[in-house]
Amino acid sequence: MSLKHFIETQDFTKAELLDIIQTVQLIKAADKQGCTPKLLQDASLAMIFEEPSTRTRVSFEVAMTELGGHALYLKPGEIHLGVRESLADTAQVLSRMVDVVMIRALKHETVTGFAEYAKVPVINGLTDFNHPTQVVCDVLTMMEHMPEGKKLEDLNVTFVGDATNVLSSLMFICTRMGMHFTHAAPKKYQAKPEWVRIAEENCKVSGGSFRMTEDPVGAVRDADFIYTDLWWWVGQEAEIPEREKAFMPRYQVNMDLLKKAPATCKVMHCLPASRGVEATDEVLDSPQSIIYDQSENRLHTEKGLLVWFVYPRLKRPSEELKAFHKGKIEAFLEKKLG
Ligand code: CP
Repeated sequence: MSLKHFIETQDFTKAELLDIIQTVQLIKAADKQGCTPKLLQDASLAMIFEEPSTRTRVSFEVAMTELGGHALYLKPGEIHLGVRESLADTAQVLSRMVDVVMIRALKHETVTGFAEYAKVPVINGLTDFNHPTQVVCDVLTMMEHMPEGKKLEDLNVTFVGDATNVLSSLMFICTRMGMHFTHAAPKKYQAKPEWVRIAEENCKVSGGSFRMTEDPVGAVRDADFIYTDLWWWVGQEAEIPEREKAFMPRYQVNMDLLKKAPATCKVMHCLPASRGVEATDEVLDSPQSIIYDQSENRLHTEKGLLVWFVYPRLKRPSEELKAFHKGKIEAFLEKKLG
């Protein structure tokens, strides 16, 4: 069975991404009827975190439990990860003990370096560059909330705010799927040129479109979804005054901005949010907000991803083989007991 990692969505075709999403939908449908199949019975997931997390940490652990497996939470500083042991050694040792590894890393190179030596699938749970599990969840959420009569390739997605790791992933997956993506931000905080090149290449193949603008009002005029994210993160505290001046009030997702979009437009945020900063309470708690559906979908998405990457690799021994080994071990133990 060939080894595949989930490090960025660009490593997958539109058809493969749709296949992953279909897996998520099937498992979600089963889950909603209280019958999640135990597809990963006895499998183990190592979850390595270099940063705190609520959604990623909880969704992966619950997903693994509900699929019949087990997750180990390896919190920041808990294991050797490039300190006191090389990344290559840690990757090879964990590969002998678990069936899949999920990593949230401070640096993208930590995940790619780990994957280079891992012998089991590695899933990227966010780096300083991207957040691929989040955006698979986001596309699923958009499919569930798209305006009647529209299909995926008709959707207009407008991201208002800073060029975060969520933006890079979202613009990549949306353009790969043939959707129409706009990034509205002050010039200094717009998507990096190398990200724009990737999005534009995707559009040539998919028929989607990508544009950047400094005009948030124009950007939301046809939006089916407005997406926003934090304006600053840990380590950017010194930049807060400058960032606040650049974004506030023009790029805040508030009722004034939301009213410029179609009445069917939905608001998304990967969370955590700085309420009252990039988006107001009024918007985040409005009927147009789908932020909690989006969060719940992280759980369903992790299940689909885990099954898609791990299930084909699991050994599925026959009942006869299981009985043979059980009998052999029991006979050995019984002999010792006399
Ligand atoms: N959206 C997201 O990844 O949330 P956490 O940081 O809580 O995992």
